[in-house]
Amino acid sequence: MNDAHRAEIQEEFGRAAEPFARRTAGRFDALDVVAFSQVRPGASVMEVGAGTGNFLSLFRELAGSLLGVDLTHEMLRVAGEVHEGLDLVVGDGYALPFASGSVDLVTSAQTFHHLHRPVPVLMEMRRVAAPTGRILVVDQVASERYEEAALTTDLETVRDPTHAASRPPSAMRIMLGAAGLRIIDERIVEDQQRFSRWMWRDEFPQERIDAVRAFVEQHGDRTGMGFEREGEDFVFVRRRMMLLAERV
Ligand SMILES: C[S@@+](CC[C@H](N)C(=O)[O-])C[C@H]1O[C@@H](n2cnc3c(N)ncnc32)[C@H](O)[C@@H]1O
Repeated sequence: MNDAHRAEIQEEFGRAAEPFARRTAGRFDALDVVAFSQVRPGASVMEVGAGTGNFLSLFRELAGSLLGVDLTHEMLRVAGEVHEGLDLVVGDGYALPFASGSVDLVTSAQTFHHLHRPVPVLMEMRRVAAPTGRILVVDQVASERYEEAALTTDLETVRDPTHAASRPPSAMRIMLGAAGLRIIDERIVEDQQRFSRWMWRDEFPQERIDAVRAFVEQHGDRTGMGFEREGEDFVFVRRRMMLLAERV
């Protein structure tokens, strides 16, 4: 990956690792991810962009081993403090530090929107997956309307300069197909979020919060994210897509 983008990601997530872990704890609990993944007891599970471990740790009861890879050392340090039993390694999704065909379930949650070139990372995930293994991608998705998706990318980039693209479900499906993967199940889950939680004061500098609020006030109704004012706050709808795939 591009050196400047790598440095930017390491700086952003290095700065925010601890509050990120607190803000996002439990955010996948309602997705029923383990059942969706069809993972077998004792399987090896790996996550690209494991961050502070709140996705990977969902598999703790069932998996035989849990491997987390992330570009940002500080995120993994916090993951190791908050969760037990994770094997954590600093590494890049574009060049995974694992042998081909070695992992039963290769996952990634909330990381693809940070990737400018998602297909090579999916090809790496496919390479590392066992011949009978599965690939599970979970990420937030944008509207299918081009203008709304483009404005969502602009908004997310004001919020976090390491954001690469907000993609609609159709783009996610195309990416997996281009990487030689066949989708065997997919699901979209919506939940309502609050601006004040999304732009948490413990995690974001005040000027960032102000810039995002100004963007929402000016363009929020054209993002397809359903922003609505609630007193001093806003609520909006977050859509996440879960895709389970296998090698073609
Ligand atoms: C939004 S966080 C998601 C963390 C965790 N998966 C979760 O959902 O709570 C994105 C993570 O992806 C990592 N990341 C971004 N690009 C990466 C890459 N090319 N390889 C590995 N990790 C990457 C960042 O360092 C960050 O920890």
